[in-house]
Amino acid sequence: MKILVVGGGGREHAIIRALKKSPDCTEIWCAPGNGGISYDAKCKAIAATDVQAMVAFAKEEAFDYVVVAQDDPLALGMVDALAAVGIPAFGPNAAAARIEASKVFSKNLMKRYGIPTADYETFDDPAKVMDYIRGRNKYPVVIKADGLALGKGVLICQNEQEAEDGVKEIMLDKKFGASGNHVVVEEFLTGPEVSVLSFCDGKTVKPMVSSMDHKRALDHDEGLNTGGMGTVAPNPYYTDAVAAECMEKIFLPTVAAMEKEGCPFKGCLYFGLMLTPDGPKVIEYNCRFGDPETQVVLPLLESDLLTIMQATTNGTLAETEVKFSTGAAACVILASGGYPLSYEKGKIITGLTNGQTDADDVTVYHAGTAIRDGALVTAGGRVLGVTATAAALPAALDKAYKAAESIQFDKLHKRTDIGQRALAAMK
Ligand code: AMP
Ligand code: GLY
Repeated sequence: MKILVVGGGGREHAIIRALKKSPDCTEIWCAPGNGGISYDAKCKAIAATDVQAMVAFAKEEAFDYVVVAQDDPLALGMVDALAAVGIPAFGPNAAAARIEASKVFSKNLMKRYGIPTADYETFDDPAKVMDYIRGRNKYPVVIKADGLALGKGVLICQNEQEAEDGVKEIMLDKKFGASGNHVVVEEFLTGPEVSVLSFCDGKTVKPMVSSMDHKRALDHDEGLNTGGMGTVAPNPYYTDAVAAECMEKIFLPTVAAMEKEGCPFKGCLYFGLMLTPDGPKVIEYNCRFGDPETQVVLPLLESDLLTIMQATTNGTLAETEVKFSTGAAACVILASGGYPLSYEKGKIITGLTNGQTDADDVTVYHAGTAIRDGALVTAGGRVLGVTATAAALPAALDKAYKAAESIQFDKLHKRTDIGQRALAAMK
């Protein structure tokens, strides 16, 4: 099969590496891809959001299967557009992608079907939001822009003044664009966070191994929120008992709800969960693989990814094996100094040969790299994800950090405490 993966970050690199293990995968492309991905796949410079150009390219090259990995093309209906020209694709259609693309949609879905989540109200009038927040008078309060905001449309406000500033930023200054026309105001929850990615075919849901993201830029969970500075899998807080509870109260009801609403979910449904004192609750849904969760989850997948993906498209997931190893994985992100704010690009990366180190059980996933005059250079905020696998988490972390030390570029920033909270929880 000739396969196209749409996107160009570390997640897409991890998907490509996993797909290439399949005996059925004979040729693989990535659009737009990046410098490091080009060692593993042919890259084509088409923006992931350019649905028309992507579909035209997919037709021209006669791809047998397309994996749409990024949220915005999914929300824009790339899977629908590919289906219209007879090309099967992995991922939800636009109607089902609303589970991530509209917080108002997903919150209302959870309320209607009794799926545990933070209490909330939705608003489209800035004056009414502040009336509600003042009347409620409980801080911190969480304010979320409705639409896709690159993970940045969530504000945790400690007092009335911060809430007022936040509402102004989102609804009046439109800091996150049109996604600020509607906001969700919700209760602040506490507890460990768990990411659970799952395969869905519209009816059946099969969860993958759990993982833990590290969203803040600096050690000890300080600094700004980022796309994710590192991950470990499995997540030690996610015990078998918690998993069973999540399956019964969250996963199965969500998939059934989407089917009932006339938009069955096919693809990877990501459950962002918080294990609160009142039980697991949904913080957010994503309609795609997580980044950098994918970089620790897929290296532990023992079954054939291409077969599973096709089963989600064809509705045969119930009969398809989804098996993970019992080992552990850790991913350390090497970022450009200054990320997630401003940072420089074009720094020469040393310590890699054809994009990889020579360490055993280590894979370097490229998020923001380019090849310039034959040299590998930085080209984004998150540059590389160094993943290691081992029988248990301590060894995986050790191998990932050792390999990360052999890679260098000017102003490299990484967290030094990825996995420490997980290790403490295991004691
Ligand atoms: P999101 O973009 O929805 O993943 O939110 C980003 C981060 O904000 C989450 O990973 C949580 O750490 C935090 N967060 C979001 N909603 C809540 C909430 N209701 N209570 C506490 N923290 C939250
Ligand atoms: N790592 C969080 C996300 O992919 O949304």
